[in-house]
Amino acid sequence: MNEFTVGLGDLGNTSIQNVETLFAQANGALGVRSSLPILDPDSNPGSFLNAYYESHDIIYGENAYGYAKKHETMVKLFDMRSIDIEILGDDNLKLQKEDISLDMAKGILNEEYIYSTIDGEKIKIELESFASHFDRNVYAQKIIITALNFSGQVSINKSVKHIPAKKDEDFDPRVKEASVNLIVEENKYTTPNSNLSFFVNFDKINENLEINEGESVTFKQIYQISRENKFTNPTYDHLKEKQIEIFNRFWESSDIEIEGDERLQKGIRFNLYHLFNSAGRDGHSSFGAKGLTGEGYEGHYFWDTEMYLLPFFVYTQPEIAKSLLTYRTNILDKARDRAEELGFKGALFAWRTIDGHETSAYYPAGTAQLHINADIAYAFELYEKVTGDSEFIEKSADVIFETARFWYSYGFKSERGFEIHEVTGPDEYTALVNNNYYTNKMAQNNLNYACKLAKRMNVNIEEAAKWEEASNEMYLGYDIERGITKQDDSFLDKQVWDFENTPKENYPLLLHYHPMTIYKYQVLKQADTILAHMLYDVSNEQMERDFDFYEPLTTHDSSLSKAIYGVVASKIGRSDVAYKFFKEAATMDLEDQQGNSSHGIHAANMGGSWLGLLYGFAGLNINNGEVIIHNNLPKEIKSLKFTLTINGEKREILIK
Ligand code: BGC
Repeated sequence: MNEFTVGLGDLGNTSIQNVETLFAQANGALGVRSSLPILDPDSNPGSFLNAYYESHDIIYGENAYGYAKKHETMVKLFDMRSIDIEILGDDNLKLQKEDISLDMAKGILNEEYIYSTIDGEKIKIELESFASHFDRNVYAQKIIITALNFSGQVSINKSVKHIPAKKDEDFDPRVKEASVNLIVEENKYTTPNSNLSFFVNFDKINENLEINEGESVTFKQIYQISRENKFTNPTYDHLKEKQIEIFNRFWESSDIEIEGDERLQKGIRFNLYHLFNSAGRDGHSSFGAKGLTGEGYEGHYFWDTEMYLLPFFVYTQPEIAKSLLTYRTNILDKARDRAEELGFKGALFAWRTIDGHETSAYYPAGTAQLHINADIAYAFELYEKVTGDSEFIEKSADVIFETARFWYSYGFKSERGFEIHEVTGPDEYTALVNNNYYTNKMAQNNLNYACKLAKRMNVNIEEAAKWEEASNEMYLGYDIERGITKQDDSFLDKQVWDFENTPKENYPLLLHYHPMTIYKYQVLKQADTILAHMLYDVSNEQMERDFDFYEPLTTHDSSLSKAIYGVVASKIGRSDVAYKFFKEAATMDLEDQQGNSSHGIHAANMGGSWLGLLYGFAGLNINNGEVIIHNNLPKEIKSLKFTLTINGEKREILIK
């Protein structure tokens, strides 16, 4: 069971803020960063409610028609973790020792700290905490304080501390200040602009105690945060019992056992643990790029959910998958309005959003990533293939039809076929191009799925014929001389980025070069054509040639990259390369490989590490309800055991 715990020792030398992210507790509705009980100046404490955001106008130096109008920023709520403690009247306590152990089997965080006054009086603080999966309004903490080497007065105060707004200081487009001055009326808190409220209910601790040396005092504290102002009366022990039951069931249906590498075993469980914790469950929230663990990317939902996270949920927790998809059906009207605003038919989903409106202020790497439409359709299709839940799909069919309608109206027929111009593919280091291969391939599938669904449901028959034609005639660029799939019409004509003379500290490139400089060259931020190959097979030789061409041009500056190259490396039989990529994906946040885990977990990569194991090493695919498995295990992994839920039935699979 050892691999079910993650402790400080598993992280190596890391920052306070990384620790806060990695041990954050969340339940899909509420997330709490695991900040220190007595704050350090470097701390960044906070808690978040999924889909709870503040909006403000986007100010452009030069505006243009149709640009996104408002930011939506997930709000950083209270610090529910810090305790005000005085020992013999002294509140200047220094941290002497800390020990953290995350019990992933139970969904509970255990911590132990020793603090001391300047005069040497020491206390031990033991914490046991969880974000309840039984009652998603609750964050619960048990606090035990022990006087280690003195007897006397200890005062202990704990409530909620609002985190006041501060100014943006950093130049890093991937993080934005999330604190907001909320309007407070009794226990009701409201954002000034988006006008969203929540209510808080909690037991305050306010004690002045005489404690003898060696003695302890214990508190059980329950914070309830409700959007509906509905509170129950839960007890700590009952919630804890339920938490353990729920995590037992979670691991029963989702665990992966890896024989041969303990570090990877721990890494993958850590990733699955976070995936389970941060996924929205109510059909009105989704999965932010950083989950509920940090303020990076403003808590926005991207294509990450559909392409990187959904497969894990579809195959192991179909109910969660369904609720993530329901979120898309609930914002369909906004996507319809957006398509209309841009002058096209159907619906265009926002590249990044919480409420459904486009919030990307930089359209070349935002709105222009039209592929999100097809990614969403792909996820619905995968859900249907794996769960057999056609009833849900038919109920949600408008998502598929409206996205197909968009492609049909945005693209056009030429002598070469059906073309899609002026888009950005997944690779954000190449923008506004014609016929991005990934986009065209995904749109082709979107049109095809819409057509099949229309025929099956006997609706939109005339349109379906057009969708079919466009799908059949989709233009997919190929360089015959070089035998390479063209990422887009112009990519192969560009100069290659000067990798040799790019110093290490200039990565990620996006923080050191103007976009125009980056777009001019053959250089990738992340998997693009190779992602299409992961989803839609081409011949082995083709995949190899494309892999060998695109991989050396890829910086992997985006965390969404390595896992995908890993899967395709498995497919082409390069298990050593696959293993290397998988290893990096499995431990990316544990080791802070991207250098910004402090902003929150890299959720898509966590889902990607599941893809690496299942799509890569286990060669998982599904065809007409039949599960296909290939043993692509690298030599380092002796066996792989996992459970999938197919058509509502659990299946255990062992590969060795
Ligand atoms: C990636 C996008 C991704 C976003 C949020 C960016 O760095 O390029 O593909 O959707 O991060 O994770």
